[in-house]
Amino acid sequence: MTKSIEVLFSPAELSTLADRDLSQTACVVLDILRATTTMMTALANGAEAIIPVSEISEALAIKQQRPEVLLAGERNGLRIRANQTGGIDFDLGNSPREFLPEKVRGKTIVMTTTNGTRALRACVHAEAVLVGSFLNLRAVSHWVRNESPQHLLLVCGGTHDQAALEDTLAAGALCERLWPYYASGQVADSAEIARRIYPLLQADLLGAMKHSRNGQRLLNSSELRGDVYFCVQRETLNFVAGLHKDGTIRKLACETPAAATDTQFYLRA
Ligand code: MLT
Repeated sequence: MTKSIEVLFSPAELSTLADRDLSQTACVVLDILRATTTMMTALANGAEAIIPVSEISEALAIKQQRPEVLLAGERNGLRIRANQTGGIDFDLGNSPREFLPEKVRGKTIVMTTTNGTRALRACVHAEAVLVGSFLNLRAVSHWVRNESPQHLLLVCGGTHDQAALEDTLAAGALCERLWPYYASGQVADSAEIARRIYPLLQADLLGAMKHSRNGQRLLNSSELRGDVYFCVQRETLNFVAGLHKDGTIRKLACETPAAATDTQFYLRA
């Protein structure tokens, strides 16, 4: 069977997924600034599960059924507040640095963000859906090599309705690592583009963020600037997480190489 590798750069492409047969496709969803990085951090710090939903109203409906869940997410980058929900302040925003062990350990977190959670939901009918970030790139590529999905689709969350540089770079990093396993199959030009861009900017990911729309927005905020530093860390987590058929994101059992550093240090920094 011919293997294939492809990247979806922009949220405008998400609507095409509904009609695609993804039954033999593994999707890796990348919303580096910040949704997928935040989810990985929450799970690393002991969250039981994350339920990604597209709309605030869906999050509120789950909270009504299950009062014990935490509500997390953003609109316009900021935590969702009572005036946007008809009375309920969300417990957390979308900053990975908020998801400390004492807040999230053992908790199920219902999360809605502008792009990231929508990208995850758009992949729900795929054979497997992984949460990708710079924090766990090695673990994700290790999982892909082990599981060897026939089709690999790297789905970038983007910024509003456009492609995002940071997601494209993470997709390129995965393409580079997985090239030996997919290059002899069908390689979409999108994968070729991502793979060729990553080496140009990989030496200074933080510097690259100054040229990204979402990176600039976060760097210009004294409160959120630290998130950019956090999200460009590489290889601090040695596990993968996947979207299960019940709609929850949980850690996946998978042997992975040891992580290089301890994320906890950066959470406190
Ligand atoms: C998103 O899901 O659109 C992003 O994570 C936005 C953000 O930086 O909060």
